[in-house]
Amino acid sequence: MNKEINILNSNRNDITDAESLRQLEFIEKARDYVSDKEKELGRKLTACVVTFGCQMNARDSEKLLAILRLVGYEESESENADFVIYNTCTVRDNADQRVYGRLGACSNFKKKNPHMKIALCGCMMQEQTVIEKIKKSYRFVDLIFGTHNIYKFAELLCTCLESDRMIIDIWKETDKIVEDLPVLRKYPFKSGVNIMFGCNNFCTYCIVPYVRGRERSRSPRDIVRECEKLVADGVKEVMLLGQNVNSYGLDFKDDDPNKISFPELLEEVCKVEGLERIRFMTPHPKDFSDELLDVIERNPKIARHIHLPLQSGSTEILRRMNRKYTKDSYLALVDKIRTKLPDVAITTDIIVGFPGETPADVDETIDVVEKASFDNAFTFIYSKRTGTPAAGFPDQVPEEEVKENFDRLLKVVQETARKQSEKLTGVTEKVLVESVNEQDSSLVTGRLSNNTLVHFPGDESLIGEMVDVKLANCHGFYFTGERV
Ligand code: 5AD
Ligand code: SF4
Repeated sequence: MNKEINILNSNRNDITDAESLRQLEFIEKARDYVSDKEKELGRKLTACVVTFGCQMNARDSEKLLAILRLVGYEESESENADFVIYNTCTVRDNADQRVYGRLGACSNFKKKNPHMKIALCGCMMQEQTVIEKIKKSYRFVDLIFGTHNIYKFAELLCTCLESDRMIIDIWKETDKIVEDLPVLRKYPFKSGVNIMFGCNNFCTYCIVPYVRGRERSRSPRDIVRECEKLVADGVKEVMLLGQNVNSYGLDFKDDDPNKISFPELLEEVCKVEGLERIRFMTPHPKDFSDELLDVIERNPKIARHIHLPLQSGSTEILRRMNRKYTKDSYLALVDKIRTKLPDVAITTDIIVGFPGETPADVDETIDVVEKASFDNAFTFIYSKRTGTPAAGFPDQVPEEEVKENFDRLLKVVQETARKQSEKLTGVTEKVLVESVNEQDSSLVTGRLSNNTLVHFPGDESLIGEMVDVKLANCHGFYFTGERV
């Protein structure tokens, strides 16, 4: 696996440049500390990064790991390490609970290794109640920071290594985007690329706008430049990341030469030579434009996969969720996509148990799943997030009823996904090989353009290669096949 660290050099001379240089100085400083400690202990120091949540967090963790490696830590899979950092998610309560559970277990390692440092960052840390709880019940934590100042991890790491006190640095908001920080990619052949940060939509159930702040787009030049560097470094597939990619660029002033739309940005990224596949996540159905469909149609490099979160099929629930589309307008959009791009897989997110949701509302959702023939759907049980409008809605649905509705929906989702997958049986498709199969090492696992997984005979040498595979057998949501 490719493990070298990229420091993307820049020609920009604005404030963010100065900041990234400052952070590189802190890396040097922390390196001295780590090397002194190595001499003292007579061994290498280890670091473990534990990631919860979405692709944004996965990308942030690649940045954290790069800094830890530059500072001199060896990567450890185990939390029995000298430095452990939890990059947290707070979209649903179960993610929070998992962090508290892991923290408790980690404190036992610290009892045996007193110079161990434990850090927390990410979305959950943007919530005041969480910080209070950690201050009170998890006194052994050494460093806490949030989503807006992750770029200064090197600096915070230095402070933490030099201090015995709990360091807490949480910002409410930022308008800053710091470019050119080191990154250590998990996969040599594919990478996430942030195109924007934050969300302005305020869906009533969702905590993201409160913990990730307002929308800030990176300049198209920085994005394209990052993609070019990634390709030069062996990357074949990028995923452009944003909470709502359709709002890309809307935060630039009208006379800013950077102001381009998301479809225009996609076309620019398609021009990057050597890049073979481009994905994006996530578009909001309320502002999915015809222009975007045109761009996808024109550019075979763009993956044949659109993730289009539905959340609910009931127009009344959608209104209360502040989603700004209706059941009919969503179905009309799906129709338009399927007509114009028949080979595109459409996947979705659905929430069950939003306040006031009745079994009849869930029937509406099931109706949309059947009519839209989703290729896959992630179904979530509604989780009440303190501070969001929906947390204050009076008619929270009893757990038993939610569970029943959830099971009813899941059955239809699985059935629909299976029917959609089966359609590809016997077809030959390009597959980007990702790994050796975990269960059977004579097989490798890869993904089609439409995101379907396929396992087929092969070895490690195929990882990162784009190969033609005949999809022989459908097993629900994945295929087994043969290379042709
Ligand atoms: N409860 C349950 N699911 C949620 N999501 C976001 N907020 C909540 C919540 N409070 C789901 C949405 C979103 C996905 C990333 O997480 O379906 O699309
Ligand atoms: Fe949350 Fe809605 Fe923003 Fe997505 S679009 S991050 S669901 S507020």
